[in-house]
Amino acid sequence: MKSLYDNEMELSFLSKSNNEAFARITVAAFAAQLDPTIEELADIKTAVSEAVTNSIIHGYEDKEGIVKVKAKLLENTIEIEVTDSGKGIEDIELARKPLYTTKGNLERSGMGFTIMESFMDEVDISSVVGIGTRITMKKTIKKSEKEEQIEEEKNALID
Ligand SMILES: Nc1ncnc2c1ncn2[C@@H]1O[C@H](COP(=O)(O)OP(=O)(O)OP(=O)(O)O)[C@@H](O)[C@H]1O
Ligand SMILES: [Mg+2]
Repeated sequence: MKSLYDNEMELSFLSKSNNEAFARITVAAFAAQLDPTIEELADIKTAVSEAVTNSIIHGYEDKEGIVKVKAKLLENTIEIEVTDSGKGIEDIELARKPLYTTKGNLERSGMGFTIMESFMDEVDISSVVGIGTRITMKKTIKKSEKEEQIEEEKNALID
């Protein structure tokens, strides 16, 4: 079956904190195909890091589980999904609020979702208590001036 996307990948790993760097670096290597700026790449890495850390720390707490990360490319947009089968979020609206954390005693600042929202264009949270959580994030990589110029020239030829 032909994919709707230009490219796709999927990672699956144990909920160990060492794997946060693995996920962040792997998604960044995949995203590099879109030719992002250093800043755009840093934004993607940070957002993935926040989502994966949440799955490990909040989703599974001390238990071992599987975290899945999917990334899909369509034109110059990357869509990233981070999924766990952990404890789930009771009140999503509340969880999104800046400074809201259920682990204030563990040096968590409650800024994870706020960071994801500020670094990505779209952040969607779906979660069911006792079943798990899925975070879907999208970011469109801006075209460089050179690419835009080439595109304009191409369009001029077609018109
Ligand atoms: N994957 C998840 N599974 C279960 N609960 C989650 C998950 N992700 C987030 N949460 C809940 O949402 C709250 C807010 O998450 P957020 O990332 O914004 O802050 P934090 O993780 O508590 O702190 P910080 O990210 O600043 O270290 C968490 O405290 C937790 O209760
Ligand atoms: Mg967090």
